[in-house]
Amino acid sequence: MRKIRVRLGSNSYDIYIGSGLLMQTGHWLKENGFAGRLVIITNPIVKRLYGNALKQSLAKEGFKVTVLQVPDGEEQKSLEVAGRLYNELTDFYCERTTPILALGGGVIGDLTGFVAATYLRGVPLIQIPTTLLAQVDSSIGGKVAVNHGQLKNKIGAFYQPRLVISDISTLSTLPTKEFVGGLAEVIKYGVIGDGDFFAYVERNLDQIKSLDERLLEEIVYRSSQIKAEIVEKDEKDLGLRNILNYGHTVGHAIESASDFKVEHGKAVALGMLAAGRISNKLGLLDKNELIRLKVIIQRADLTTELPNLEVEKIIQAIKHDKKILRGKIRFILPKALGSVFITDEVNLSLVEQVLVNWNEET
Ligand SMILES: NC(=O)c1ccc[n+]([C@@H]2O[C@H](COP(=O)([O-])OP(=O)(O)OC[C@H]3O[C@@H](n4cnc5c(N)ncnc54)[C@H](O)[C@@H]3O)[C@@H](O)[C@H]2O)c1
Repeated sequence: MRKIRVRLGSNSYDIYIGSGLLMQTGHWLKENGFAGRLVIITNPIVKRLYGNALKQSLAKEGFKVTVLQVPDGEEQKSLEVAGRLYNELTDFYCERTTPILALGGGVIGDLTGFVAATYLRGVPLIQIPTTLLAQVDSSIGGKVAVNHGQLKNKIGAFYQPRLVISDISTLSTLPTKEFVGGLAEVIKYGVIGDGDFFAYVERNLDQIKSLDERLLEEIVYRSSQIKAEIVEKDEKDLGLRNILNYGHTVGHAIESASDFKVEHGKAVALGMLAAGRISNKLGLLDKNELIRLKVIIQRADLTTELPNLEVEKIIQAIKHDKKILRGKIRFILPKALGSVFITDEVNLSLVEQVLVNWNEET
């Protein structure tokens, strides 16, 4: 097992990463000072796969466990579902000290985190992420939220978990498209934080795709480390943490212009490539590195093909983004593979040029 300490003063916590950790969760919770009753929030898919293993491990160490379920799906991240969970927690007499475990992907993690942050003004939260995206991204850093109308992820809080347990063996049952979506974030960490890590993923991509556990542990570990370092420097997202949005400016626009028919990971991959091309046009990212970025996206089974959407629709979606400043837009641009910077100086016309000429670009 590997351990990462996220250093945030009194909100510091550990991330445990390894294979088979679900079976040891009771032990780790006890070691971290928890005892007595606790609540698991999960969905029927994850419960069927991993609910029993987790419950057994907790029961073995004397915990009294209550399992609450919400249906699968992004639409469950709502105030209404949170409200129902508050009622159920009250029915089970949960107290300020009763920990809540989020067992599932980012949807369960964000919703459970929101409930834990707000129920009785905050109860201990343990993240047990079971998707690649949740292990490398959403379970770390304390952003918890629900959606509300047009406000996606905008009703929430910064509420750090007390512990994150990433059992990489749970990734074996993940549908391929979810795994591939998570790979987009792994590639993102290489570009924003560590060129050697990018090269490592490049070298080992085929084995990573065949779910070699040693490699999965390494990519989850390195990605989590990069995210933790960024969060430590900017917990409340006031500056540096913005670099985690690399690929998301154009990515979000493609997602919304396609009415969310383009999956998040694929949209982010297109956004990362778009930012790479913009950077290359500005004389920053070297052509060879741009090609490496394109090739790794293709090899990861993400996409480099722009969907059949009017460029104008994508530009309109970008304009909707509140980060627009006097015809210029905030971008995270790679200077090299492993190093990015934040700029408010990218002209929308350059973004349009890259999108219009997409098929002719490197
Ligand atoms: N809080 C943050 O910092 C942050 C960061 C990035 C994304 N997010 C949020 O994360 C969410 C997306 O998370 P996601 O990609 O994990 O999606 P998800 O939670 O919907 O999970 C994807 C699918 O995989 C299933 N699943 C989960 N674990 C499984 C397993 N081990 N085996 C088989 N199936 C499994 C789920 O039931 C679901 O059907 C979005 O709501 C997004 O806003 C939050």
